[in-house]
Amino acid sequence: MKILHKHGRPQQEKNSCCFYTYYKWLLWLSLSLYFFTSYLITNNNNNNNSRNTRILSQSESTNITITPIITNSKDQQQSNSLLKNMKVFVYDLPPKFNTVWLQNKRCKTHLFASEVAIHRALLSSEVRTFDPYDADFFFVPVYVSCNFSAVNGFPAIGHARSLIASAVKLISEEYIFWNRSRGSDHVFVASHDFGSCFHTLEDVAMEDGVPEIMKNSIVLQTFGVVHKHPCQEVENVVIPPYVSPESVRSTMKNAPMNRRRDIWVFFRGKMEVHPKNVSGRFYSKKVRTVIWQKFNGDRRFYLRRHRFSGYQSEIARSVFCLCPLGWAPWSPRLVESVALGCVPVVIADAIRLPFASAVKWADISVTVAEKDVGNLAEILEHVAATNLSEIQRNLWDPMTRQALLFNNQVIEGDATWQVLRALSEKLNRSYRSSRVSRQLEFDT
Ligand SMILES: *[C@@H]1O[C@H](CO)[C@@H](O)[C@H](O)[C@H]1NC(C)=O
Ligand SMILES: *[C@@H]1O[C@H](CO)[C@@H](O)[C@H](O)[C@H]1NC(C)=O
Ligand SMILES: *[C@@H]1O[C@H](CO)[C@@H](O)[C@H](O)[C@H]1NC(C)=O
Ligand SMILES: *[C@@H]1O[C@H](CO)[C@@H](O)[C@H](O)[C@H]1NC(C)=O
Ligand SMILES: *[C@@H]1O[C@H](CO)[C@@H](O)[C@H](O)[C@H]1NC(C)=O
Ligand SMILES: *[C@@H]1O[C@H](CO)[C@@H](O)[C@H](O)[C@H]1NC(C)=O
Repeated sequence: MKILHKHGRPQQEKNSCCFYTYYKWLLWLSLSLYFFTSYLITNNNNNNNSRNTRILSQSESTNITITPIITNSKDQQQSNSLLKNMKVFVYDLPPKFNTVWLQNKRCKTHLFASEVAIHRALLSSEVRTFDPYDADFFFVPVYVSCNFSAVNGFPAIGHARSLIASAVKLISEEYIFWNRSRGSDHVFVASHDFGSCFHTLEDVAMEDGVPEIMKNSIVLQTFGVVHKHPCQEVENVVIPPYVSPESVRSTMKNAPMNRRRDIWVFFRGKMEVHPKNVSGRFYSKKVRTVIWQKFNGDRRFYLRRHRFSGYQSEIARSVFCLCPLGWAPWSPRLVESVALGCVPVVIADAIRLPFASAVKWADISVTVAEKDVGNLAEILEHVAATNLSEIQRNLWDPMTRQALLFNNQVIEGDATWQVLRALSEKLNRSYRSSRVSRQLEFDT
């Protein structure tokens, strides 16, 4: 009391000052409230995103797939430095080697179309150089998988070796770069069953081997196994089969949003008829036969033997998608499952999966040994009871799904970008880079 009295004046001053402070606080409070609310709103959206991601929202995923990750030139530069400023020269070959084949519309959409997609994306890519003297790698765009047989609709690749040989003849006569490195910095795509062996039957493919003319080069191929194999006796990068990003987007758009996955295990494809008869590789026939015999009639399994153009919508409805080996160990089912959020069940013992550094396959898929295929139901029940939601969460990572799709233009993290990333790991094959580093050694 005394003190109050004594310090009456100061108190008054203090009062007015506090009134002033009170207003300041009010202003501060309303401003922070404003920012906090707007923060909450945006953050809420983000939270919604992650929540939807967890329940596999298809609306969100559509957006994720469309959103190009590279949005400005700064990102572009960053992406380039991730690719170590590598430069690629794309040979401008006469149309008979490539664009003539595009007269058939299927040429750029079927499962082997990565040979077209990679070429197309490189043409508009930042890594492309028009000066071959400035290039680390030389891309040879020959489309060999587009000569569709009138009988069965599959591509006839009998002409592949001669077409590639004549392309190499042309570039080695017109340019100095092939002879300079004996082709070791040249890049080809071999996107069909047995990659650079260019034959659809494994035994013939193995006998033929990689064409002599390509043996020194780099081949981007869908075929890959973990053991020694004549069809990968060449520097190679395993790439995913082609699945059109547009088809994935339209499937997602048409699938009801946020729906529960009502199919537990899905497979559509040939079940037992398997024309291949190669020593040591009878499993493919066995695996599919066992699946059909054992699980057809099991209500948890949705197995269909006939082609159906809307099969992607079935994948979008499924929890597990079986990816058993067929002609070759790899299959477009792998890409479609990942893109559409169905957990791939890989049943192909020796398969070497694409882009292992970008796609953590062990975290996003289930692997079942060929010999265990009879226990498929128990194995998948066990996964469902333990770590299914974790696998689904990993699977729904947009970077993972992006990595397996070839877009018209290179997008950081997409399949063509992953190819470039893999090439940038092989820069010691680059004539230019080796010269630059030798120069640096001299200089220092
Ligand atoms: C994609 O996102 C935009 C805005 O963020 C939204 O308006 C649109 O509806 C989304 N698309 C889908 C298919 O959900
Ligand atoms: C396309 O395939 C058929 C059948 O294998 C072959 O006879 C024909 O020469 C091929 N066409 C070209 C242009 O190579
Ligand atoms: C490259 O070597 C081949 C075969 O030795 C030869 O025919 C061709 O003329 C050479 N190319 C160039 C540009 O010298
Ligand atoms: C597979 O081919 C071998 C000969 O290469 C033949 O003896 C065998 O009967 C064939 N098996 C089947 C199931 O067709
Ligand atoms: C899920 O569990 C299985 C064993 O049931 C294991 O092999 C696999 O690595 C697990 N996957 C993940 C992503 O944790
Ligand atoms: C390039 O480096 C890799 C290892 O990073 C090595 O295996 C390969 O032999 C090297 N190639 C050349 C041409 O030096």
